[in-house]
Amino acid sequence: MVYGKMCKYFLVVITVVLTQSTICTGDTDQRNERSKPGGLFGSNWGFTPSKRFLSLFTVVTWGQGQCTAPSGEYGNCVPNNECLPRGGIPGGPCAAGYGMCCVFMQSCGGIARENGTYFVNPNHPDAYEGTGSCQLTIMKTHPDICQIRLDLDNFAISQPEPINHICNADQFLVSGGSPAPSICGTSHGEHMYIDAGLGQSNPITVTVITSGPAFPRTWRIRVSQIPCGSISKADQGCLQWYTGVYGRVKSFNFDTKTGRQLSNQDYSICMRTERNFCGIQYTACPDPSNNRSRSFTISGNSNSIVNSMVGSGTQGTPNSCTNDWLLIGCARVTDRIPVPNTCEDRICGGTFNAEVSTLERTVQSSVRPFRLSFHTDLIEAPNDIDNRGFCLDYTQQPCTNG
Ligand SMILES: *[C@@H]1O[C@H](CO)[C@@H](O)[C@H](O)[C@H]1NC(C)=O
Ligand SMILES: *[C@@H]1O[C@H](CO)[C@@H](O)[C@H](O)[C@H]1NC(C)=O
Repeated sequence: MVYGKMCKYFLVVITVVLTQSTICTGDTDQRNERSKPGGLFGSNWGFTPSKRFLSLFTVVTWGQGQCTAPSGEYGNCVPNNECLPRGGIPGGPCAAGYGMCCVFMQSCGGIARENGTYFVNPNHPDAYEGTGSCQLTIMKTHPDICQIRLDLDNFAISQPEPINHICNADQFLVSGGSPAPSICGTSHGEHMYIDAGLGQSNPITVTVITSGPAFPRTWRIRVSQIPCGSISKADQGCLQWYTGVYGRVKSFNFDTKTGRQLSNQDYSICMRTERNFCGIQYTACPDPSNNRSRSFTISGNSNSIVNSMVGSGTQGTPNSCTNDWLLIGCARVTDRIPVPNTCEDRICGGTFNAEVSTLERTVQSSVRPFRLSFHTDLIEAPNDIDNRGFCLDYTQQPCTNG
């Protein structure tokens, strides 16, 4: 079945509505109501609804039902006759044929007025080699939208320059909401949450600037509008938000072979504290492409062995993190017995460990909420060479009794 869960749900509710309306409206011609455009699905119902009927109707709000089009893209299940006028692309039936799975897609100069609108490169799904500025404006679908979630389903623009890793040819920028780092390179599957402010405030814009040499650029970014009361809402100050007891987090443009850690980053990655979990452990991801893992290379010359560095120190303090770092609240290695009574906050260098070492270790933190903060300045060379950034696997740890 290509129809999403919500569409099945609609079918059930519609069946109930039809039954109820028969009971409540007696001899109203049901067939007429159904064929009248906007009759069954529009707001102008052709007969007087009873109280009971209305309370049922409030459950059915078109446009919230997510469905999957045969193209693999998500759409909104809307009344058949509304998809084209709303600027959507019909993507097959949903709600058992009562609705249309309507995919909303915009490119340069577009305006996202529907939840789940995709922002795609010109020529999508083919690559775009051109240069210029391509902007999407996001309008809140409702005043009660608190956050915008951007899902970078597909994201490949050109790499930062190789010396200081600055995005000076291509750049992805978000403005009008809470601050978001500007990024470039390749980041398929990453996401960002942007605080949209209260009320129907200024729109948020997402811009891809492309310049410099031709490059096969592709992007397909899904823009979801998160209501203030939604369970999908991220905690305050979290650019990235992960749920579940385990998962993987990466810096933007992470790739152990060709990725370059981006400069000028400053944001937080948050893991929702799941019920009955009190701590969290982080381990560097496996690196299948290098003999010495490059899953954590934040500072130093990554072409040689670089130990882990810890703490904020000061400029000139050896093995401390004064320029680029990953911050983990009170981080300790997991298997020290007895548990050391000191802990570190910043970790950098070329090895993942909460102590200065050339050996990778699992690192633990009990500071809640679970949060990583990543900071890089605007300089790499000459001390920092070929840094890749980080990829960490995390697992939350259950609370222990007593
Ligand atoms: C938009 O879609 C997302 C994900 O499908 C959903 O969580 C959110 O509630 C929707 N927003 C609105 C306003 O319907
Ligand atoms: C890993 O080490 C082996 C043996 O020293 C070497 O032949 C190989 O090229 C190395 N691979 C990488 C990716 O560095």
